[in-house]
Amino acid sequence: MSGTTALVAPAADTVADDGDEDIGEARHEAARQRWRLLAEALKRGAATTHEGAADSCMGVSFGLVRCLSTPENGWFVYSAQGFEVLVCHVTEAVSPKALAGFNNTGNVRVWSSEEVLTHYCLRQGPALFAGRRVLELGGGMTCLAGLMVAKAAAPAHVHLTDGNQAAMANVKRIVAQNELRTDVACSVLRWHEAGHLRPAALYDLILCADCLFFDDARPALADAISLLLRPGGSALVMAPARGGTFNLFVQEVARKGLRYSIAKRYDDAVWASHEALMHAAQHGGPFYNEDLHFPLLLLLTKPS
Ligand SMILES: C[S@@+](CC[C@H](N)C(=O)[O-])C[C@H]1O[C@@H](n2cnc3c(N)ncnc32)[C@H](O)[C@@H]1O
Repeated sequence: MSGTTALVAPAADTVADDGDEDIGEARHEAARQRWRLLAEALKRGAATTHEGAADSCMGVSFGLVRCLSTPENGWFVYSAQGFEVLVCHVTEAVSPKALAGFNNTGNVRVWSSEEVLTHYCLRQGPALFAGRRVLELGGGMTCLAGLMVAKAAAPAHVHLTDGNQAAMANVKRIVAQNELRTDVACSVLRWHEAGHLRPAALYDLILCADCLFFDDARPALADAISLLLRPGGSALVMAPARGGTFNLFVQEVARKGLRYSIAKRYDDAVWASHEALMHAAQHGGPFYNEDLHFPLLLLLTKPS
């Protein structure tokens, strides 16, 4: 997710105060932009439709997933690497009532980590998913990565989840509109309740994007992954470093006994976009800060 444009995400405000002036300035700029966007969204109110949106569906975008309006009000085509899905958004996400409820960050937009995770999954090719049970945690209002996997590959089962009810109601509408290649379940799943989930079997692969900055939920997310992954299974987790929160999560998963590796240059197209975004920002273009915006890849494996 981009701290730049997050509406209610505490991320930029919870960046550890390490005395680094650049990070401090980035944090202030992120906060300014966040509140500007929030003010605009509240002015537009529940009638927000993201009309004419292309990349505006996704704040800071790496240009790897295209989002195009359709003639049908409120529906968009998201496309990547030749695959397309129909997607609608939660339009009342920033009403004062919604802001008072469960964490709403996943209803604001599709954040760049989800975009990059979607691209990355497609780049891995269908073989990674074939016959596998796939779970997405904290997928937000589109669960785009898991949705695209269900569209492009032939997993045995895809389970899309988020802790926010409005997000999951939206995901259910999306799933109903798309012809997917596999059986897809959608549920509200809060990480601290993962122990109550009784899946038919544990998952071979877990996907998760931009969920590591919630200080109070990091241990529960690490628990959920450890609990729901089958021995030998893997998780692909993407998130920006964000003032040390990524590393704090790595410490959590290591404590659970999960094996991990961290990659920064995991994909040429992602890296090229990152460099272009950095270059533009240094030359008067849109605000882009690596710490807040660049998704690192964390690959987790549960020992057999
Ligand atoms: C920044 S959003 C990311 C959404 C999506 N993955 C994306 O990148 O567009 C974080 C997501 O985590 C979900 N979340 C936060 N705390 C949670 C919890 N305790 N249990 C389950 N989901 C949670 C929120 O509802 C939100 O959708």
